[in-house]
Amino acid sequence: MRKHIVAGNWKMNNDLAQTEDLVSDLKKQSKTSDAEVMIAPATTNLWHAFQSVREDDIEVIAQNMHFAENGAYTGEVSASMLKSIGIKTVILGHSERRAYFNETDASLAKKVDAALSNDMRVIFCFGEELADRKSGNEATVVESQIKNALFHLDADAFEHIVLAYEPVWAIGTGETASPEQAQDMHAFIRKTLSNKYGNTVANNVSILYGGSVKPNNAKEIFGKPDVDGGLIGGASLKAEDFYAIVNAF
Ligand code: PGA
Repeated sequence: MRKHIVAGNWKMNNDLAQTEDLVSDLKKQSKTSDAEVMIAPATTNLWHAFQSVREDDIEVIAQNMHFAENGAYTGEVSASMLKSIGIKTVILGHSERRAYFNETDASLAKKVDAALSNDMRVIFCFGEELADRKSGNEATVVESQIKNALFHLDADAFEHIVLAYEPVWAIGTGETASPEQAQDMHAFIRKTLSNKYGNTVANNVSILYGGSVKPNNAKEIFGKPDVDGGLIGGASLKAEDFYAIVNAF
């Protein structure tokens, strides 16, 4: 059965002292839901966060990585470097990476391969822009993002893939997809997977929703049958808000 997951994407926020503070606040919260909890601090703070939550029910994950194993890629980190400090999951394809760092479906396909060949789990992000939604093209855009970056994989690979549908117009804007819009898209994504890999794969993949999820809307969004969790930006930077979302299941 697929898992419920709530992952906090801290983006480029929190220095070391702020990471220590937030992690210690998170450890004081109690979890009353069955959701797996993950946090994605900045690269410089992954090791510290990993050490701090070792005994706790929180997984520390990375926001990005390069597709090469090593080499002349100034400023980048590889899957094996992340693994060497205990990181087992990586977010790939976030819309900010696509928009500001020129990530494409083709380069993301290589990153996905590199993560999987290092036995890492991938949270793969995709989603349409406002213009796509306004012109009614959201399903076509999402389908091509998934096909281009993931459909070269074997069915077995999907045991290590989590999908995160994040409509770009809802990220950091305070505007969320309605629970119905999220459900419709998640059902479409599952259908797309099922057409290619069959029902078992499609039903076992967790599909997260991301885009202005807050304590006051999480319950309604997570109440939809094909929404298996959330990728949380702004609201993951406050421990109480983040756990209110974790506990919305
Ligand atoms: P937000 O970010 O919750 O601040 O909208 C979501 C994300 O970028 O994953």
